[in-house]
Amino acid sequence: MTWSPKSWRDFPVKQMPTYKDEAALAGAIDELSARPALVFAGEARKLRRQLADVSAGNAFLLQGGDCAESFTEFSTEGVRDTFRVLLQMAVVLTFAASKPVVKVGRMAGQFAKPRSSDTETIDGVTLPSYRGDSVNGVDFTPEAREPDPKRLIRAYDQSASTLNLLRAFASGGYADLHNVHQWTQDFVKDSPAAERYAETAVRISEALDFMKACGIGRDSAPSLEAVDFFTSHEALHLPFEEALTRRDPNTGQWYATSAHMIWVGERTRQLDGAHLEYARGIANPVGVKCGPTMTADELLPLIDTINPDNEAGRLVLIVRMGADNVGNNLPALARAVTEAGRKVVWSSDPMHGNTVKASSGYKTRNFDRILTELESFMDVLYSEGAYPGGVHFEMTGRDVTECTGGAKPVTEADLAARYHTQCDPRLNADQALDMAFRIAESLKRVRRNNSAAAA
Ligand code: TRP
Ligand code: MN
Repeated sequence: MTWSPKSWRDFPVKQMPTYKDEAALAGAIDELSARPALVFAGEARKLRRQLADVSAGNAFLLQGGDCAESFTEFSTEGVRDTFRVLLQMAVVLTFAASKPVVKVGRMAGQFAKPRSSDTETIDGVTLPSYRGDSVNGVDFTPEAREPDPKRLIRAYDQSASTLNLLRAFASGGYADLHNVHQWTQDFVKDSPAAERYAETAVRISEALDFMKACGIGRDSAPSLEAVDFFTSHEALHLPFEEALTRRDPNTGQWYATSAHMIWVGERTRQLDGAHLEYARGIANPVGVKCGPTMTADELLPLIDTINPDNEAGRLVLIVRMGADNVGNNLPALARAVTEAGRKVVWSSDPMHGNTVKASSGYKTRNFDRILTELESFMDVLYSEGAYPGGVHFEMTGRDVTECTGGAKPVTEADLAARYHTQCDPRLNADQALDMAFRIAESLKRVRRNNSAAAA
């Protein structure tokens, strides 16, 4: 069937806001269509090559950032701090896995949110649900909640500024491996889990010293100074995505230029729906969320729709089943994909299936439950002969109190102190790095078991 950037309009579409002024929406879309691409086709192709390495088991994917980016919370420091924690996690994971880590931010475009209901009612007042800053405002007033097309332009502008910062941080010296590891050593020193993390941290230091002694430093190896850093978000707001879909003059292929990678969410992944129709026609890497109800009968046609040529690096399956469901529901999917010989990246989103309401009313997630989902994801895939290739976190570089647990534990009573998220609870900087050290332990265990099995 023929595809075009707007062919999704012929399919049933879920999770679209209702705009009162259709002409104003069309005007905003026209304006966006005239704006420059945010990312370029060659960059998206580079990410595809790196993800192809992941699907072959030779690299590991780290994807993370805010649940929803916000206009009011936007700052240089905020972008820098999330980037910094992602890099710290990447160093720990690179060392533990002995594999390159593909670094993808849930940043510079993560503005549109799916909701379970079109409206929200508080004390008898019913207003449109908050759908992310690119659609409406989070405040519970009729003015804020009215979808406003001008917000799409502001989301584009903030994405451009964020990308500009990320590009500078990635290549301007900030991402120097020695710097990043120095920050991690400071973190370990102050952590209640210092003893537990010390072994990994010390071994990384020794490895860097050894390399230096062998003459491998900044001058001889420029790759130590810079990183490839990619952006991603949920491609939920299809008019926005359509406006930024451009044909690459070199290959003639269509690319989403709003981010290097986009994903389709659990609520919009219907085989006959508009979101999969959009995703199938662009040449970027595409993620699809796989929740607890996903069956092999749904998954295989979905894979063939998005990736008919079975190309490695094209499709990332982002599993988000909940800690108690992965062990029951993932094996059948993994077996079906492996038996069919389909090349995918398996990644774990251990956040979205583990959201609970604390007695105080805050939505929260517990560190140990998140870790449990991740570990059972790894166990299932290894025992099915597949490769658990990545992780996907909602996290921030700031010191928020949104998820409970961690080495410096946040308790339910602490949640009120710095609960800033506009949407789902995020790991704070310490919890995110704790998580990387704990994943490192799991990866080490796996390596030990594998070499024991080989011997
Ligand atoms: N460029 C390499 C990489 O991205 C090494 C590197 C430099 C690095 N700075 C880093 C790795 C920061 C992780 C984090 O893997
Ligand atoms: Mn979320």
